[in-house]
Amino acid sequence: MQISIQKTKVSRLGSVDFNDLPFGKIKSDHMFVVDYSSGRWHDARIVPFDHISLSPANSALHYGQSIFEGMKSQIDSRGVPLIFRPEQNLKRLNLSAQRMCMPVLPEKLFLEGLKKLISIDKGWIPEGSGKSLYIRPFMFATDDSVGVKVSESYMFIIFTSPVSPYYNQPLKIKVADKYVRAFDGGVGAAKAAGNYGASMLPTKEAYGQGYHQVMWMDGHEFKYIEETGTTNVFFVIGDRVITPALDGNILDGITRKSCIQLLEDKGVHVEQKRVDINEIIEASKNGILNDAFCTGTAASVVHIELFNYRGNDIILPNVAERKWSNYLGEKLDNIKCGIEADKHGWILEVNETQSA
Ligand code: COI
Repeated sequence: MQISIQKTKVSRLGSVDFNDLPFGKIKSDHMFVVDYSSGRWHDARIVPFDHISLSPANSALHYGQSIFEGMKSQIDSRGVPLIFRPEQNLKRLNLSAQRMCMPVLPEKLFLEGLKKLISIDKGWIPEGSGKSLYIRPFMFATDDSVGVKVSESYMFIIFTSPVSPYYNQPLKIKVADKYVRAFDGGVGAAKAAGNYGASMLPTKEAYGQGYHQVMWMDGHEFKYIEETGTTNVFFVIGDRVITPALDGNILDGITRKSCIQLLEDKGVHVEQKRVDINEIIEASKNGILNDAFCTGTAASVVHIELFNYRGNDIILPNVAERKWSNYLGEKLDNIKCGIEADKHGWILEVNETQSA
């Protein structure tokens, strides 16, 4: 499909303070938009980033057929934009779409639109430690009807935002003991907007008690660890590295799977299993809980400082002593900005000609 390009007449780039990039607030000049109706995607276009007009009866606003992804781009020493594992994001977007009864997006359309957009807004990719261009693809229903039914029309958009790290300190986490994020047969594995809407109240309550995030537990017994509000989680007990298995209730994180691969490259087997919170508490009591960390696109690899379970703090060792989280954070950053060899073929290079 041909992608039409309408560039902005006046770039906002000159007005941006790249030393002050609060996550997600600043939007780059352009966005990629595609419409879906009558059973097909059409009118792919790159246009200036702007508001869109929606009917008050827009069905996504009422019934939540809305899904999204998060990716990042960094620039290498030659000035070439690099995108980390975008085909994995498309795969997950399409799984979310299937679960939410929405149309899947063809890979070629997604990648062509993405590459053109990043090439056009290349000047928005910030340089410097932990900074990147955050890429937000999303899809939502656009039917103008309040009947509860599958929408027949959709819009897919990608916009971008220069960002600093999502978290700038080790996290204090509250283990959920009242609210549940996902349940068997639900939409926990989908990156559905409603999952995040439902997390707002529990997260606000956790903030109020001095925590940065909630750690979600299984919905049956509040016993098995799932993920945090914005990331997957890993634990290191002695020499064992453990992470909750993909059980249909948690997100199949791209940073999660990349960390597993990087650890396997070092000969470290990662146990993907049901993680009983009591195993973690026991390890902490025995002095062998050596590390706990979160992984996500926005967050990258971030240390957990402590988590609070039913009123008791489980405190992790000093971050300087954390072997694997420190290794993974640095290794991933280096691969993403082209300092280290991309031996798994994770990096998509965006060349100049791709904006033509
Ligand atoms: C991401 O890591 O990209 C996410 O989507 C998590 C959060 C910003 C919602």
